[in-house]
Amino acid sequence: TRVDKGGYKHFMAKEIADQPGVLADALAAYLDGDAILLPDPGIDFSRIERLTLVACGTAFYACLTAKYWFEKMARLPVEVDVASEFRYREPPILPGTAAVFVSQSGETADTLAALRYCRDKADTILSVVNVETSSIARESDLALPIHAGIEVGVASTKAFTCQLNVLLLLAITAACARGHMSQAEKSQLLAELRALPGLFNATLDRSADIEAAARKIAEARDVLFLGRGLMYPLALEGALKLKEISYIHAEAYASGELKHGPIALIDKMVPVIVMAPRDALFDKTVSNMQEVMARGGKVCLISDAAGLAQAGDGIWQGITLPAVDDRLAPLLYALPAQLLAYHAAVAKGTDVDQPRNLAKSVTVE
Ligand code: G6P
Repeated sequence: TRVDKGGYKHFMAKEIADQPGVLADALAAYLDGDAILLPDPGIDFSRIERLTLVACGTAFYACLTAKYWFEKMARLPVEVDVASEFRYREPPILPGTAAVFVSQSGETADTLAALRYCRDKADTILSVVNVETSSIARESDLALPIHAGIEVGVASTKAFTCQLNVLLLLAITAACARGHMSQAEKSQLLAELRALPGLFNATLDRSADIEAAARKIAEARDVLFLGRGLMYPLALEGALKLKEISYIHAEAYASGELKHGPIALIDKMVPVIVMAPRDALFDKTVSNMQEVMARGGKVCLISDAAGLAQAGDGIWQGITLPAVDDRLAPLLYALPAQLLAYHAAVAKGTDVDQPRNLAKSVTVE
């Protein structure tokens, strides 16, 4: 298949902008009404006792997000690790473990080695891949395609949202199989998920606000990302994206960890990007933001209208997203994280699609 930039300046811009259609297609491939279609033989989550999720880079943050979903919705204990640590740690794989490997390319050397380590130890080996003919897909008992289409930009964007989509569908399947989600709850969540491409479009329509914030952020040398709960992995992904393509030093912390160290860094030179829909944890996040602002820190709040209204005055930059079901927020909030990094990189004039020192697929150790 030939891929081109379709009028965009960079593949990354196109791959970000394509996400509404890509997600809609990916959903169509997995949903038939309220049935979640998994290849046969699928996986019987009522017999699985725990999950081990392993990946590298952006795919690792998709796994970290999935941990929150599987544990909360399906009451399934989850361990998550980066493949380069997992493979040499000789972790015990207890009976009843399903091992899940997430990889866009399906060729990442560390992830493949981690899969091989689990081969005769785990009950089932599952993979979530973009390239269906890849080594990781071939060596799995069950390979689930993310249907993102070819991704050219080195910094992963649409593959990330599509990885999240498949992991969420798996978590819903597990929640139902384990008796923790009723048919009605499932129906309602799937309806929200089907509406998500529309919210993606509404978010992309706000690109100008995000670009304006990104230009300001591009002036910083260091940036801090904060998030709580499902937004914590997203904060990590936002920081990774910014580092990868704009070369701005960025770190992410769970909001509650602010007081245990990173608060010492706060001054007017270090923008703090807070990713926080107005969910049950929002009040806690507001108090974290106040701690930052009280020290002269500049807060860029990414939230919904209700969240921005509650946060009140003193916010340096506000980015308003549509309100979304709490459980789906990671998919929606991925877009501003990607766009902030993209526009910051463009403002700095870096090579967005081919950032220095990075490769799309790392097939050596
Ligand atoms: C490289 C890429 C990242 C990617 C990571 C894992 O570092 O630059 O964008 O997230 O590898 O790749 P995989 O193909 O296994 O998802």
